[in-house]
Amino acid sequence: MTHETVKIGIIGAGLWGTNHALALTTYSRSTVLLICDCDEGRARTLAQRFGCAWTTSLDQLASSDVDAVTIATPDHLHAEPTLAMLRAGKHVLVEKPLATSVSEALAMTEAAEASGLKLMVDFHARWHPLFMSAKGYVERGELGAPVMAYARLSDTIHVPTEMLNWSGHSGPEWFLFPHTMDVVRWLFGRNPVEVYAKGYRGVLESRGIECWDAIQTMIEFEGRAFCTFETSWILPNSYSNVVDNRLSISGETGGLELKNEPSLWAFTDRFHTPFSSTSVTRYGKVWGYQYESIRYFVDCVADDVMPEAGGRDGVMVTAMIAATLTSLAERRPVTIAEVLGG
Ligand SMILES: NC(=O)c1ccc[n+]([C@@H]2O[C@H](COP(=O)([O-])OP(=O)(O)OC[C@H]3O[C@@H](n4cnc5c(N)ncnc54)[C@H](O)[C@@H]3O)[C@@H](O)[C@H]2O)c1
Repeated sequence: MTHETVKIGIIGAGLWGTNHALALTTYSRSTVLLICDCDEGRARTLAQRFGCAWTTSLDQLASSDVDAVTIATPDHLHAEPTLAMLRAGKHVLVEKPLATSVSEALAMTEAAEASGLKLMVDFHARWHPLFMSAKGYVERGELGAPVMAYARLSDTIHVPTEMLNWSGHSGPEWFLFPHTMDVVRWLFGRNPVEVYAKGYRGVLESRGIECWDAIQTMIEFEGRAFCTFETSWILPNSYSNVVDNRLSISGETGGLELKNEPSLWAFTDRFHTPFSSTSVTRYGKVWGYQYESIRYFVDCVADDVMPEAGGRDGVMVTAMIAATLTSLAERRPVTIAEVLGG
């Protein structure tokens, strides 16, 4: 069935839910009807800004006539709203990570598959022109078979200590690894096999936030290709950008170096490098890859197409992170089959 415009509800009216609203209210194929947040003030403020209704009740959203919902609740709180909306017959776009446990990720994916509804995870790096360009090199065979990669995505300590009020329920692994792990798996076109990790903790714990400070995890993929994933949540705030993101990838016959953040160097009253995910408005709408993934989900619902970056991709990323945490706890290599229960 195709729709003229897709009627949408947004769950989670915080920082990233605001980006969902910006993407969806400036797209011709979607109409945002309802914004839901358990915090009444946040729900009302965002709804008033975008001229739609608001609620604090998932049940009210479930019984509304929205076709689809987008979910931007904290990392550890994705499963309940996703399952509730799938039960109510709504298509779901959920923020990364799909879930913070393999059992929840599998339950969400199996519920979507059983219902035939669309479930997409917002792995938006796949919609970034830089990473799309890299995928083109791989697809044209210009790198040869994948051999190795190094992927770094870190935040300044501002993110866990000032930006998020739930960082102790997540960690750099759940908040940041989903982007790099999904994109490397997508570029390699291979599934992960085995994981071995080292981590450091103490800096955030000394500030009352119970999570890892920094992790390096080496993941072997099918065909013996491997990647070192690095993340830190304690980069000093003196770093020129809130995010540090780079990737190198080598194949048997070629390689690529991608530097995503910092990308723009500004010399004004000071030297700084603005975060490229900050919204830029021109020609009457917000632009950026972080909006394109959300609008792509609308297209999939409107055109009745199963989205890329679906539940099974979310399960594999959750499994890579879960295996990393088991490796850190038990100081040994951990197979993906083990965390998937295989
Ligand atoms: N794609 C990206 O690059 C990107 C960037 C930032 C955040 N995110 C993701 O977006 C999600 C939200 O992050 P954020 O920074 O917006 O957090 P936030 O704390 O700013 O907002 C979360 C909101 O969810 C609400 N909420 C919590 N439980 C709820 C429930 N059961 N029902 C309804 N509302 C509920 C909270 O009241 C809050 O307003 C996270 O999963 C995060 O990883 C993605």
